Amino acid sequence: MISEALGLENYKVDIHSHILPEFDDGSRSIGESIYLAKEIKENGTDAVIWTPHFSHPKYPEIGRKSILAHFNRYKELIEKETGLRLFCGGEMYFNPEVEKNLITLGETNYVLMEFDFNTYPLYLKDKIYDLQLEGYEIIFAHVERYNWLVDEKKGIFRTKYDFSLVEYLKSRNIFFQVNFSTLRKLNNYKAIKHMLKENMIEFVGSDKHRKNDGRNVICWSDF
Ligand SMILES: [Fe+2]
Repeated sequence: MISEALGLENYKVDIHSHILPEFDDGSRSIGESIYLAKEIKENGTDAVIWTPHFSHPKYPEIGRKSILAHFNRYKELIEKETGLRLFCGGEMYFNPEVEKNLITLGETNYVLMEFDFNTYPLYLKDKIYDLQLEGYEIIFAHVERYNWLVDEKKGIFRTKYDFSLVEYLKSRNIFFQVNFSTLRKLNNYKAIKHMLKENMIEFVGSDKHRKNDGRNVICWSDF
């Protein structure tokens, strides 16, 4: 669906990455960025959306203007060197004062949103509603990371999972993205395994930051 909206039907798109140099906590040099772009392309991805952190307490200086300027500075060079198509987006850190003028993925109305890993975000349901009224489609970034999303109760013999918040979010047309690395160790992510089986996860992304960040680029041959 994002590929269609980007005019890239049938193309393989990685919707989550930090591969542009010297910006957020992603790549540290243009050489590293080109290395990453080549690796991504060689493993079957046709296009990548660059999704730097914004509205994040760690990066208060990052905003729409600086993201677009940085993207325009590097897009052509990296595309020319690697053959990978690049699109501009952002990874928004959820806060109660969510802005209205959000950075979306390419020219689509999809917003990639991340949250605190451990604390349930107050106002989540209200803000989702507001943003959807504004016409945004919301994707939760790396859905496997949020401890508050699925309630796990460990018993002596088995663990019980409470998916009621997930079910609520799905009923509100929220999309989920999982990191590709997680798909390779699903036995450590039982709740995610269940959600995949129930077709509740729509997107995969590499969330690639650095050469040696321990994250795999997407290998489409795995699917
Ligand atoms: Fe990310």
